Amino acid sequence: MSISQSPDASAPVNLMQKATLIDQPWSPRMVAEMNDYQFKVVRIEGEFIWHSHPETDEAFLVLEGTLRIDLLDSCVHVQAGELYVVPRGIAHRTAAKGEAKVMMIEPRGVLNTGHEGGERTAENDLWI
Ligand code: NI
Repeated sequence: MSISQSPDASAPVNLMQKATLIDQPWSPRMVAEMNDYQFKVVRIEGEFIWHSHPETDEAFLVLEGTLRIDLLDSCVHVQAGELYVVPRGIAHRTAAKGEAKVMMIEPRGVLNTGHEGGERTAENDLWI
């Protein structure tokens, strides 16, 4: 088992500090990897697009603010310090009034827009 992180592998990752360094919303940045999984922080503001991930669950840990996760027949409000896992294949849309800072945990290679694609697809594997 290995954990890699950048740029300083000798220091713990301060998730809020990393989130604060991101210069724009909807731009996930990696803060650590563990086996095939990636830990990404992201600033969420406004509404994303509907999508799903047919091949994987997707975990959201809220660091600050309130994350709203719209599901087809319900909606979940996830507060700072709370975790929510969207099951694989379930359509979802993330949103926040104001801003939410969030850490996501998912396997390497998962796109933020799932199979929807489009202009809101973020580049993967960018460290902060
Ligand atoms: Ni998703």
